[in-house]
Amino acid sequence: MRRQRIAVLVSGGGTNLQALLDAEAAGAVPSGEICLVVANKADAYALERAAKAGKPHTAIVRKDLGGSQEAFEAALQETLEEYRIDLIVLAGFLAILSASFTERWDRRIINIHPSLIPSFCGPGFYGLHVHEAALRRGVKISGATVHYVNEIPDGGEIILQKAVEVLPGDDPETLQKRIMREAEWQILPKATEMVCHLLSQDETEA
Ligand code: GRF
Repeated sequence: MRRQRIAVLVSGGGTNLQALLDAEAAGAVPSGEICLVVANKADAYALERAAKAGKPHTAIVRKDLGGSQEAFEAALQETLEEYRIDLIVLAGFLAILSASFTERWDRRIINIHPSLIPSFCGPGFYGLHVHEAALRRGVKISGATVHYVNEIPDGGEIILQKAVEVLPGDDPETLQKRIMREAEWQILPKATEMVCHLLSQDETEA
């Protein structure tokens, strides 16, 4: 079966991208191939990781395109078509994608969120804010979720989840690190392979 062509969208350090690159190199994503990395910020360290891995990479920066969401998404769409992308993986990607964009890519965009959805998700719940809220609420278990992306922030169908214990004395940073290490970096590659395999099966059955 053909390998699905994956674009990874990033905004920051790219540790989830790194987990995907490492998984691909270890043969753990046989149904997909990372063909492109796109950052919405020119200084995202994730772009360095893509360069080191020899992957095509680019920054698409909204303010450099006149600042409109339409211009940003038009440039993104053009690049995705140029690289014949089948699946978009959001890995620490913090820009908004409009309903028209997510509808066009229905069930072909997945996202990693650093909590057990439906807890601590939706508008404003990103990065450390997620873990601050979890600690404030006093949950004993948190974790990560991979889900399909639709027009509702963190609202799409859940694909995989992994629970992580909250330890006494945790602060947002220690909890974030543990969830990244023990959950995000495990389930994102696994979910990516699952979805690529499904897409390939659909293609052969079509
Ligand atoms: C982290 O908060 C992570 O939990 C979430 O996105 C942020 C950056 O991740 N998924 P990364 O290191 O850029 O992958």
